[in-house]
Amino acid sequence: MRTYNNSAQIHTALAGFRHNGQSIAFVPTMGNLHEGHLDLVRKARQLCDVVVVSIFVNPLQFGPNEDLDAYPRTLAADKEKLFSEGVQVLYAPSVEDIYPQGTHAQTLVHVPELGETLCGSSRPGHFDGVTTVVSKLFNIVQPDVAVFGEKDFQQLSIVRKMVKDLCLPIRIVGVATARDADGLAKSSRNGYLSFDQRRIAPVLNQTLNCCREAIACGFDNFLQLESHARMKLLQAGFDPDYFAIRDARTLRAVTEDTEEIAILAAARLGTTRLIDNVKLSLNPVSDWGMLAGGH
Ligand code: PAJ
Repeated sequence: MRTYNNSAQIHTALAGFRHNGQSIAFVPTMGNLHEGHLDLVRKARQLCDVVVVSIFVNPLQFGPNEDLDAYPRTLAADKEKLFSEGVQVLYAPSVEDIYPQGTHAQTLVHVPELGETLCGSSRPGHFDGVTTVVSKLFNIVQPDVAVFGEKDFQQLSIVRKMVKDLCLPIRIVGVATARDADGLAKSSRNGYLSFDQRRIAPVLNQTLNCCREAIACGFDNFLQLESHARMKLLQAGFDPDYFAIRDARTLRAVTEDTEEIAILAAARLGTTRLIDNVKLSLNPVSDWGMLAGGH
């Protein structure tokens, strides 16, 4: 595995692979790698000849009171994991390499609407930071395919829209959320949880699943489901940020055209903000079956 810290060097190295006709899959990360990240790497390996992973804790996507300084940086352990997974190229740039004139002078990429709801409204500027760094990384690596996790469902939707809107010739592939045995979505931020908070944390996924079950059983008062879920989270000890039942494609309210529902939640346990989501297909075949049965 070759490691580059400099954008010009990795750009030249990857041109060599491309010249040899090898396809490139890219997995952007902020490091502190866990099984969720490694699932993306495994998917990337299936799809292309060369896998490039980036590790960059992007200051532009952290708000002033967020955990930029505390964010876990574990480069040596991360390198070992990537090497074991057969990754050929690691890009671990410095902040100066990505933002030579500082973050304030940086041109921003803004995805309207999709980037302004849910996490976008509770973390102003966050998704501009994500889309800006992802655009820069895409231009440095110029991958054929880029792999993202469904754990950050809104981020995945925003990246898909950005790629479409800017006509970037990159295929975006989503990978299902990796979870601990009790359902908690794996996350670098889980390491911040105390013993007691870690015991409470799976309630977030349980609440999402209960809501999905209720909708699957035909319960369609979404406002009531959302407020009931928020109450359950509060009772368990969370400080809920949002709990929202949305159209999975648009992240807007569910309409009669909705084919798939996404239920998304963000909630704090102490100072740690956890997010998770589940999806539910509205299967037209079963509706049809019910209609047919009624005749
Ligand atoms: P990070 O949180 O390190 O996540 C990197 C990638 O791993 C993202 O695509 C994320 O969705 C995915 N991921 C994280 N936990 C996962 C899990 N439990 N299961 C499946 N995939 C998971 O997301 C970011 O970094 C940054 O915003 C980034 C895109 C790198 C831009 O800075």
